[in-house]
Amino acid sequence: MTIEALQNRAEQILRNAGVMPVLTVDSVDQGLRMADALAEGGLKTLELTLRTPAAMSALAAIKKARPDILVGAGTVLSADQAQASIDVGADFLVTPGTPAVLAEALAKAPIPAVPGAATPTEFIALMALGFRVCKLFPASVLGGIAMARNLAGPLAELRLCANGGVNEASAADYLAEPNVLCVGGSWMLPKSWLANGEWDKVRNSAAKAAQIVAKARGAG
Ligand code: 3PG
Repeated sequence: MTIEALQNRAEQILRNAGVMPVLTVDSVDQGLRMADALAEGGLKTLELTLRTPAAMSALAAIKKARPDILVGAGTVLSADQAQASIDVGADFLVTPGTPAVLAEALAKAPIPAVPGAATPTEFIALMALGFRVCKLFPASVLGGIAMARNLAGPLAELRLCANGGVNEASAADYLAEPNVLCVGGSWMLPKSWLANGEWDKVRNSAAKAAQIVAKARGAG
């Protein structure tokens, strides 16, 4: 598939998701439980970060047990991690920032990639490689909605997944921006709920997020 086709697919995945939970897992079992609770609440597109030793096995396990859930590998920092994620069945790749060597590897990947960037210069470099669907990170620190809005003028083709400090209170405002396809975050997975096995709370928070997306799409 060409990078253009893969980016079209990335746009479709993110627009369809609207809210993408960011998962950091301690174990395979915990990852499966998180994925189930989120999916039951209506969120079926996930970013699973490669920040813990269990991450790669959890990604593989979720893809095997729940093929209807789309799982992106997140916090991909190297070409090797990108390849390992592809090998275990990741549906797409997400990075928090994208140095040139990583961007070039992602541009050759056989699955969609959503490279992270924080400045116009970085987005322009990614767009030169064919990326127009990128992660704005860390969105809230960069100016939040105003940052997304300011990028829309000069970089009209760019479409964003805004992550970093986004929460239930701010999600709708981000989604109202025409260049924001999706917001990502971990607000529906606070550590205390995970530690106490409060999956009903995760499910309810996911359901609220899904409602925010439905409302934003209805209004759009
Ligand atoms: C990310 O990597 O996208 C962030 O960790 C987003 O989640 P947070 O804002 O809830 O930390």
